[in-house]
Parts: sequence; structure tokens; C-alpha cells
Amino acid sequence: MTATGVPQAYVTGWKGFYRREFAVNEHVLVPRPETEHLIEDALEFMRTPGRRRVLDVGTGSGAIACTIASEVSDAIVTASDVSLPALIVAARNAARLGVAERCTFALADIAPEGEDGYDLILANLPYIPSADVPQKPDPVGFEPRLATDGGGDGLDEYRKLLARAPSLVHAGALLLMEAAPPTIIGLLTLAQATFPVAAITVHRDYAYLERYVRIATR
Ligand SMILES: C[S@@+](CC[C@H](N)C(=O)[O-])C[C@H]1O[C@@H](n2cnc3c(N)ncnc32)[C@H](O)[C@@H]1O
Repeated sequence: MTATGVPQAYVTGWKGFYRREFAVNEHVLVPRPETEHLIEDALEFMRTPGRRRVLDVGTGSGAIACTIASEVSDAIVTASDVSLPALIVAARNAARLGVAERCTFALADIAPEGEDGYDLILANLPYIPSADVPQKPDPVGFEPRLATDGGGDGLDEYRKLLARAPSLVHAGALLLMEAAPPTIIGLLTLAQATFPVAAITVHRDYAYLERYVRIATR
């Protein structure tokens, strides 16, 4: 960060994520290295032939969507966001990285209507409880509130995703949802209630913090 707290990436306009540079501005969350754990898990899953259709919920800069499209040459990615300025950044990143033809960017709450049958859903939705969202000069305070504020208990957007998730995927699909220690047990409980027969696990990051919930549907 800079002396004023502004994230360095907003000053340079760039942030590295999983071996690529992403253009960023104040309309998107600065991609975090912790999110690369979801990428690793997703890439392993996508190695099985026939798994192609991917949904990135809350794409922001497009870091997740563009990385999956870049690493998996036949992946077809839909990336949603409720922020039009964020989608413009994401679409530009896809064009620059040469994956625009296999990425669709949709202004949508969780997911475009009428689409289903995804093999893989990745989501890094806002998960900080409203009262805990850091304020300036904390660097997170410079990031879009839409990207950080998860409502009263931090799980408002994940509740919306899980309400729709069963109709978005088929048996054998994978869902990866990023959160952080204060909210991850709540997210795990929601996931278990939504997918009672799925294999659901919590995974940690390199700092040994609980980082994402993994749902393998049956
Ligand atoms: C934490 S940021 C993650 C950005 C990016 N996926 C990443 O990992 O760097 C969350 C993003 O979700 C978007 N968002 C918030 N609520 C949403 C919703 N209901 N449907 C789709 N996107 C949403 C925000 O605008 C923001 O871009």
C-alpha cells in the first residue's frame, strides 16, 4: 500500500495473479494470492475430460474467469457481476489475455437467468460483516463496498448463491466458495443444508486460515 493507504495496485493499475498481470482500478477488488488456492483446486478438477462449463460469480477484475480460461484451453466461462464498471475491467482483461472468445461477462445478480448445467462454480463474493468492513485509511476501505460488504453476518450474497446453486449445477459438479475464518463456519453450515448428500470440506490457505468451502455434488 501507499503512505495514504491507497492499495499500490490502484496506483500502478496492475496486479499479478496466478502467473498473469491483471489491469485493476478502483471499481474492482485487488486480486488476492489466497484466491489462487481455489484456482489450483479448480484446475485439478478440470483435468477430467468433458468438464468445460464454468461460472465465476462476482468476477471483479476477471482474475478467476480469465485464469481458468487461460489455463484450460477448452473451458467456456460465464462471469457475473452486479457492477458494470467491474465487468468493463474484466472484459478488457479477457481481451488482453486472449480469452475473450471463451468468456461471457454478464451483468447479473449471481448468475444470468436461464443458464444451468455448470460443471464448476467459483465464487469470491463479499463476505465481511457490514460492521467489520475496514474504513480508509485501511487499504480495504479503498476497495468497492460492493466487493467487501457481505451484509449483517457477512453471508447475504452467499445465501443468494446457495439458494440458486442446486439449479445451476448437475451431479458431479464442483463449487468452490471463498470466505475467511469469521464467516466460514456459517458458510459451511449453509452449504451442508443446501447440498445434504454432497462431499463438503473446508480448506486452508498458506497462513493456515480457513479460506474456502468445497462442495463436490453427487
Ligand atoms: C470479493 S470481490 C471478488 C472479485 C474477484 N472474483 C476476485 O476474486 O478478485 C466480489 C465481487 O462480487 C461482486 N458481487 C457482489 N454481489 C454480487 C452478486 N449478488 N452477484 C454477482 N456479483 C456480485 C462485486 O461487485 C465484486 O466485484
